[in-house]
Amino acid sequence: MKPIRKAVFPVAGMGTRFLPATKSVPKEMLPLVDRPLIQYAIDEAREAGIEEFIFVSAAGKGALEDYFDTAAALEMSLKAKGKTDALKALEPTRMPEGALTIVRQRQALGLGHAVRQARHLVGDEAFAVLLPDDVIMSRKGVLAQMVDAHARVGGHMVATMDVPRPAVASYGVLDVENQKGRVLQARGMVEKPRPDVAPSTQAVVGRYILQPSVFETLANIGPGAGGELQLTDAINADASSAGLSGFQFDGERFDCGSIQGFVQATAAFALARSDLSTDFSAFIEARAEPQKISA
Ligand code: UTP
Repeated sequence: MKPIRKAVFPVAGMGTRFLPATKSVPKEMLPLVDRPLIQYAIDEAREAGIEEFIFVSAAGKGALEDYFDTAAALEMSLKAKGKTDALKALEPTRMPEGALTIVRQRQALGLGHAVRQARHLVGDEAFAVLLPDDVIMSRKGVLAQMVDAHARVGGHMVATMDVPRPAVASYGVLDVENQKGRVLQARGMVEKPRPDVAPSTQAVVGRYILQPSVFETLANIGPGAGGELQLTDAINADASSAGLSGFQFDGERFDCGSIQGFVQATAAFALARSDLSTDFSAFIEARAEPQKISA
């Protein structure tokens, strides 16, 4: 099986849940501790062996595109001042020449529609999709975990996590046929099912490895839930011919597309940093203490 070399990053959403911050700053540029969300997704993709990065972007996302450009004046000034630590901090923002391509989604018509824009850049090979607002804290990056598993099973693969049954209504949910280790063979998946009729409690989060056949399917299906072209619908329509599995990743996922998830991720990532954790955990404990007393 060919290695997975290309990844699509749909970053054309409007990020309305973060207004007013996202009025002029793309959601993917909001910083988690000291790195923007997009940096976490790029680092995870690199760890998995991705060499070509495709952003599906939109008007008003210039800051996101500039972030991966060379900042010649800034770098010269840091060099002249001998600020080696600051220069080193810029290293992950460097992209080899030609590695990053940006396509535009002219209207936000859904995740499936966003992925469809990358068709001619992906061509005829299996590829990854990463949603930067799903940030996953893990020892080994989740996409790298999936790439290893995918080499054994092929087909379409989606990252999944077990959620409480009432929560399934907020996710795409897998119809599981059988399980082997972390891999769940699936018959299909449904978008935001009612909890009482949901086929399982395995919720899909924003990491996918897809076969190129999904582009043809995206071109043939119509809009789904919310009038948007849903990636879930295309994967589901393709499941019996291409094969579909879920991958129960090892890690903790934060929904950084929601304010609650973003705030929790900020605390978790700060607590995991050796240079911040001592002072920050003392601060959190001191804040939590009076609430415990009044509760
Ligand atoms: P969301 O459903 O979180 O939408 O998209 P959003 O617009 O980013 O945020 P809210 O709901 O208005 O706050 C999930 C992912 O799909 C991308 C988003 O950029 C995000 O990475 N997306 C969504 C697109 O690229 N295009 C779309 O038309 C819709």
